[in-house]
Amino acid sequence: MSKSLVGIHAEGKIYTDKLLDTSAAAARAISLYGKENVTNGSSGVMCDENSTLICLPTVETTFRNIGIRELVGYAPIAGMQDYQDAAIRHTFADYQPEGYIKAIATPGGAGAVSSVIWNYSDPGDAVLTHDWLWAPYKSMCSETGRKLQTFSLFNENKGFNIASFEAEVREILKQQDRIVIILNTPGNNPTGYTLTNEEWDAVIEVVKENAKADNKSITLLLDIAYIDFTNDPLKSRAFMKKFKNLPDNIFITLAFSMSKSFTVYGQRTGAIIGLSSSKEVIEEFTHVTQMTARTRWSNVNRGCMQIMSTICNDPLMVESLQKERDDSMGMISKRADIFMNEASKFELDVLPYCGGFFITIPTVKPDIACEYLQKNNIFLVPLAKGIRIAICSIPTIQVKGLAGQVVEALKNTSEK
Ligand SMILES: Cc1ncc(COP(=O)(O)O)c(C=O)c1O
Repeated sequence: MSKSLVGIHAEGKIYTDKLLDTSAAAARAISLYGKENVTNGSSGVMCDENSTLICLPTVETTFRNIGIRELVGYAPIAGMQDYQDAAIRHTFADYQPEGYIKAIATPGGAGAVSSVIWNYSDPGDAVLTHDWLWAPYKSMCSETGRKLQTFSLFNENKGFNIASFEAEVREILKQQDRIVIILNTPGNNPTGYTLTNEEWDAVIEVVKENAKADNKSITLLLDIAYIDFTNDPLKSRAFMKKFKNLPDNIFITLAFSMSKSFTVYGQRTGAIIGLSSSKEVIEEFTHVTQMTARTRWSNVNRGCMQIMSTICNDPLMVESLQKERDDSMGMISKRADIFMNEASKFELDVLPYCGGFFITIPTVKPDIACEYLQKNNIFLVPLAKGIRIAICSIPTIQVKGLAGQVVEALKNTSEK
């Protein structure tokens, strides 16, 4: 191409995605060798013991019963009222703090995260998150002229690194008046780490301390994509109660996603939920997030929102869906236990896994190790500082022995 035709902001952008590349490579291997001979730990979707994508039965039945007009019709920009209410009830469950709360529909958690980054930071601003992160945060920032800055998620005891968090928040707020902080917990992608309630107390303390000056504001963006896949999904929401009575220059936002919680990944449905002690802050939130929606994706999948409100308005369906989720989490936990036990026998360093879809092995040579594994038909995702295993998608039979194969790959790549 002799001359670039794109606007200046788009010049030089190259779209690459190691995650999708690994999934595509796994799919090619499966078509050549058969799924029983390929370990596909690339993608964050739940698969059963036959490597088949799971759609939870209560969701499937509801989906199939949605009328055609509900499926194909437009929806209000903010989502139907029933859906907004259901998203709020589902997100907070027994732990809804006092305050003004509003939900606006978004295309999945991704739409929610990008809307907050866009609306609550300025061009050129630093947005802060942990160093073990979901890679799209970075592109969402660069795409909108923000820069993603990171703090160390773990301290030397593999607990939340509050000192690193504090230092970065303080430093950034010396340079700019507002900051968006993204925390992905419970069941962080890629590590599976979940902040404890005590760690949450410390985080809130740091946030309050750094928002003392009136000219500063902090938007905390909680990416809770994996909240329903912990050992106790209800209790894992307990930290949300801590957000009551915060000053109005601290804004809490939660990225709710139906993708994992309702196993409707491709239906692109979620919500951004705002929580504030100030009515005006919530009114402003309602306007700016709807404007973003209208100008980027317009409205959200009506049929999928209807699935959620139908289920959430029926206590028996809520109960059966919860049981199905618990069973699926039981399956993931069993796989994770096998992996962790084998890993500890090999003294393989694994980041602390508390729940969610992924387990991560830290290493300095993730790409070479993953290439080695691929030669043995094992498809895992190389990250900047580790190897991510989507334990949610690997049948138990293939999890057995996997830790040993990772050890072997690391050994074989250590001299390279
Ligand atoms: C950490 C994290 N946040 C958000 C999402 C958003 O998912 P979706 O946009 O499908 O709701 C994902 C999906 O993989 C994720 O891993």
